[in-house]
Amino acid sequence: MIDLELENKVVIITGGSGGIGSACGREFLRQGAFVSIVDIDKKSGMLLEEELLVEYPGRARFFECDLTNIDSTCSVVDSTIAVFGQIDCIICNAAIFHANSLKNWGKDDLEQLRRHFEVGILGHMNMVRHAWADCREVVAAALSLSGQRQDDLQSQRLWLTCQSKRL
Ligand SMILES: NC(=O)c1ccc[n+]([C@@H]2O[C@H](COP(=O)([O-])OP(=O)(O)OC[C@H]3O[C@@H](n4cnc5c(N)ncnc54)[C@H](O)[C@@H]3O)[C@@H](O)[C@H]2O)c1
Repeated sequence: MIDLELENKVVIITGGSGGIGSACGREFLRQGAFVSIVDIDKKSGMLLEEELLVEYPGRARFFECDLTNIDSTCSVVDSTIAVFGQIDCIICNAAIFHANSLKNWGKDDLEQLRRHFEVGILGHMNMVRHAWADCREVVAAALSLSGQRQDDLQSQRLWLTCQSKRL
């Protein structure tokens, strides 16, 4: 696994309760980071926090957040700083995916596509904007997977490349 140079860095991971987000959280903790798990899925997030704190006391926190809600998004940025003192990196991972061919386009598709962009793009833009003053470095993350199944991810066969640049 590549060294992401995350020793004592504070990382927010959106969509961190499950899937790729939780796999990132585990790996970042293994590499010495503090992890703020941000997700709309409270049940999975709380369970994950409980599990991670056994191995990494004081290094992981779950914060409930709906990225389509501006106040909720700003609040988790503020909470992360209150708990961990800083933000070094934000992994914009949360998504809901909607795709349909235009020939099958129905009356619900526009609303679902709107939510797709609200979570994946606008929510993250708002989070980064709010964190800007406190975030040392905004990270654009490119995920490259060796396998797509969750058990592949959990078994550490996740190849992660992180391109770090100031946006
Ligand atoms: N799984 C793949 O094969 C694959 C391949 C390429 C890219 N990706 C991308 O990687 C990312 C993660 O994929 P995944 O398969 O782990 O997805 P996933 O559906 O398992 O996880 C997405 C997470 O986002 C959270 N989320 C959804 N709506 C939210 C909201 N409004 N506010 C906050 N959190 C919300 C969900 O609760 C969930 O925990 C996505 O951006 C996806 O597009 C996935």
